[in-house]
Amino acid sequence: MKRTKEQVRISMKFQICLLSLLFAAGMLQAQDIPLSMEIMADMPTSEAFRQRKTVRDFRDEPLAFEELGGLLWAANGYNRPEENKRTAPSARNAQEIDIYVFTEEGVYIYMPKKHMLTQIVKGDYRRIISEQKHFAVAPVSLVLVANYENMKNFDEESKVFYSTMDCGYVSENIYLYCAASSRLGTVACGGINRDDIAKIIHLKNGKVLLAHPIGVVDERANNNRELQNPVKTKQQVTPMLNQKR
Ligand SMILES: Cc1cc2nc3c(=O)[nH]c(=O)nc-3n(C[C@H](O)[C@H](O)[C@H](O)COP(=O)(O)O)c2cc1C
Repeated sequence: MKRTKEQVRISMKFQICLLSLLFAAGMLQAQDIPLSMEIMADMPTSEAFRQRKTVRDFRDEPLAFEELGGLLWAANGYNRPEENKRTAPSARNAQEIDIYVFTEEGVYIYMPKKHMLTQIVKGDYRRIISEQKHFAVAPVSLVLVANYENMKNFDEESKVFYSTMDCGYVSENIYLYCAASSRLGTVACGGINRDDIAKIIHLKNGKVLLAHPIGVVDERANNNRELQNPVKTKQQVTPMLNQKR
């Protein structure tokens, strides 16, 4: 559902007041960042399937704060919290796929129950993910990680087998959200530095699986896809994360 600029402004004021209250009440840590639930991708599903594709060329432009919240929710958020179920299916509902968010400012983990980011480490680690050129340009990269702590009742082979499959659903959700946004692009990347990433995120029991650089499609390089839906808000991911800390 799209909102007017005025509605977005009022909503931001409300969010800032709410944040101040939550910090004051000790319910949030300084490194916690609540995300927007704005879904900025509302084209018909049939059109999103038509538009779904790999994009490797991004503009030097940040994502809007609302885009990141909508993207993470679509990727693997709770769509049926009362049933403990999410937008992506998982074998035995293990829900083992965690999403780490790499930005210029730091590395965060997506906390889907609270729909917020929690900071893991400060600093720009985007280029560590992979030497592939798209990671140097994309403002945000999502890294999908199997958390084996949620798979204690799986044998070792099944942990790898099922988490790899479950990761594929999250990856496709990311692709479809980008397609439906008419603005964002992404590429699933298996050619990544898994050991280095595991160290950065302090992974103890799990496996780094796949990464998705996300950016605004560079239509000069991807000229077969027109930008139809430029984002109107000026709120961008990096300044927003700065403000909220
Ligand atoms: C599991 C997986 C791993 C991939 N790894 C890479 C990668 O490391 N680098 C890359 O540029 N593309 C990668 N791709 C993207 C594929 O090359 C791309 O999906 C394929 O060429 C089909 O294009 P399409 O997605 O536009 O249909 C990967 C795709 C998948 C599904």
